[in-house]
Amino acid sequence: MVRRVTWSQYRESIGDRTSLFTALTDAVPVESALYPGSYVDLSPSTAIATVTYIDTDARAAQFFADPKTVAAELVGRTRPGAGQSVRFLAADYTRPLDVPEASADLLVSLFAGPVWEHCHHYLRPGGWLLANSSHGDASLAALDPALSLVAVAHQRDGRFMLTSDRLSEFLVPRRPEQADAGRIRSSGRGIAYTRTAFAYLFQRL
Ligand SMILES: C[S@@+](CC[C@H](N)C(=O)[O-])C[C@H]1O[C@@H](n2cnc3c(N)ncnc32)[C@H](O)[C@@H]1O
Repeated sequence: MVRRVTWSQYRESIGDRTSLFTALTDAVPVESALYPGSYVDLSPSTAIATVTYIDTDARAAQFFADPKTVAAELVGRTRPGAGQSVRFLAADYTRPLDVPEASADLLVSLFAGPVWEHCHHYLRPGGWLLANSSHGDASLAALDPALSLVAVAHQRDGRFMLTSDRLSEFLVPRRPEQADAGRIRSSGRGIAYTRTAFAYLFQRL
């Protein structure tokens, strides 16, 4: 039997990322997002109209299979227009997905592996990638000439803020020889930077 997990339970362990997506959608226009390796993190739907969540975990599948629970979890938490479409794919994001090419405004990659590498083609030109460096995705994105860093997200006292100040100080490797895509891929971990943020917002050029 699969243990039931809800977003509100998950928030107790990871914190509430609602303010991350509020800040992000204040900064850039996002109508649709793709979130591979989402688990039960429903926070993008508090700020974005259409979100497709993807995960192989049976607990995520169980959570998203119950529209009443999902809707109840969002009550009183969405900004106007957000949370209209919540779709879940029980799928491995490294395999082809039932998602149109170049359709998403935003690709979310948080603590879930090499999402950018496998899912970049679902992002529309000019769209955004929100990635952190825990599993190496922001480190790989930083090396990709198709992406430009446009903002960083900081977390303070449980709230997130996005800033474009002093961007050139971020994603500067402590040891430049470690900034190698093959090496990052095989380690599955991000490299150390002189200045860090919770996550990085890139724009696809
Ligand atoms: C550490 S959790 C992070 C969840 C969420 N992104 C967060 O930041 O709280 C990683 C999730 O990615 C999922 N995952 C890892 N590799 C995956 C893959 N290839 N396809 C789909 N889901 C995957 C796992 O099942 C797990 O639920």
